[in-house]
Amino acid sequence: MAILELNNVVKTYNDYSVVNGFNFSVNEGELRCLIGPNGAGKTTSIDLITGRQKLTSGTVHFDGKNITKLLERQIVGLGIGRKFQVPAVFKELTVRENFEVALSEKRGPFQNMNPFSKKRGRKHFNRIIELAGLGSRLDSIAGYLSHGETQWLEIGMVLMQKPRLLLMDEPTAGMTEQETQKTSEIFKELKGDHTLVVVEHDMSFVRSIADVISVMHQGKMLAEGSLSEIEQHPKVKEVYLGTEGIN
Ligand SMILES: Nc1ncnc2c1ncn2[C@@H]1O[C@H](COP(=O)(O)OP(=O)(O)O)[C@@H](O)[C@H]1O
Ligand SMILES: [Mg+2]
Repeated sequence: MAILELNNVVKTYNDYSVVNGFNFSVNEGELRCLIGPNGAGKTTSIDLITGRQKLTSGTVHFDGKNITKLLERQIVGLGIGRKFQVPAVFKELTVRENFEVALSEKRGPFQNMNPFSKKRGRKHFNRIIELAGLGSRLDSIAGYLSHGETQWLEIGMVLMQKPRLLLMDEPTAGMTEQETQKTSEIFKELKGDHTLVVVEHDMSFVRSIADVISVMHQGKMLAEGSLSEIEQHPKVKEVYLGTEGIN
């Protein structure tokens, strides 16, 4: 079943439609890669899903609910998390404190009083720390983490809020090959429990994680399918011709 559905989504700036009739549907538990040349409208589409920007026309449905006109914080409250390209962590706080801040944003003040929910909360907390591979870095100041660790910290912070859908814009940008590989392992682990939409340039990364790939071009869906289908798609080849290529 589709957990996310974009129908004929348009975003126009000064008479130019950056997103121009975009149709996009993602099933629950899926790990979807969204690729496309620079300026295709990928980041803008994420902004539209998360309510950071408003649609010019079209609709966005999440879990069957029309969220097109909701505010950013209402959309977060429904269970859509987002990781920005530049990590938004508190550099002067420790890793543990960053996670705690992320956790408290979701929790109401009374949840702490229920011992069962507290125990579950700790389990959840520990699972994310393990997933992010930051167990030995809990008392480190976030500002001193490596680039990869900072990205994992932010992914972990978004996960503290238990999003059903997680949108990530170029999560491996600037990562070493080893860091990229670890990130692909994290995503594979998350898939199923969460639905992931990953905007990515690094095709070797896409190759290692993707089930279905969606290709966006000039604000529209150009092609969709498995990696081999995408690679052999004539329109996709044409779009990537003379650029950095789709490898
Ligand atoms: N606020 C804005 N005002 C005008 N143009 C914008 C704005 N935001 C993005 N754009 C333009 O929209 C196009 C698509 O941008 P973007 O969604 O960032 O593409 P992608 O993430 O696929 O590279 C770009 O040409 C960009 O310059
Ligand atoms: Mg972008």
